[in-house]
Amino acid sequence: MTPEKLIEIAKNAMTRAYAPYSGYKVGAALLCADGTVFSGCNIENGAFSPSICAERTAFAKAVSEGYRDFTAIAVCGGKDGIISGVFPPCGVCRQVMREFCKDDFMIYMIDVGEGYETRTLKELLPDSFSL
Ligand code: THU
Repeated sequence: MTPEKLIEIAKNAMTRAYAPYSGYKVGAALLCADGTVFSGCNIENGAFSPSICAERTAFAKAVSEGYRDFTAIAVCGGKDGIISGVFPPCGVCRQVMREFCKDDFMIYMIDVGEGYETRTLKELLPDSFSL
C-alpha cells in the first residue's frame, strides 16, 4: 500500500464527514500490518462532547473488528472539506495512537494538491504516556 493510495482513501472518507457544527470535514485511512485499511470521518453531535474525530473513528472500527497491528494513518481535513494545508491529529487522537502503535507508526498529514508531510508517532508525541 503506497502513501498515495492511503491518502486517496482518506480524502474519500473526508467526503462522508458529519460536521454540521464546526464545518470542518476530516478523513482518515488507517493501514493495518496485513494491508487492511479502515477509513474514518469525524462525526459531530449537537451535544458536542459525543463528537468523535476521524482518526478515532478509524481506530474504533479497526479494533472492534479485531485488528490491533497498525503501520500508518493518512489524515486530511479542512473547512467545508476543502484542504488548505495539513490537518495534524489532535492530542487525544495522538494518545489513542499511542495505545496501539509503536514509535515508528507513520502519520501522513495530507497537504494541498498531491503534497503530504510525514511524521512518526514519536515525533508527534514525544515523551508519551502509556501503561
Ligand atoms: N477533528 C478530527 O476529526 N481530527 C482531529 O485530529 C482534529 C479535529 C475534528 C473534530 C471536529 O469535528 C472538527 O474536526 C473541528 O475540530
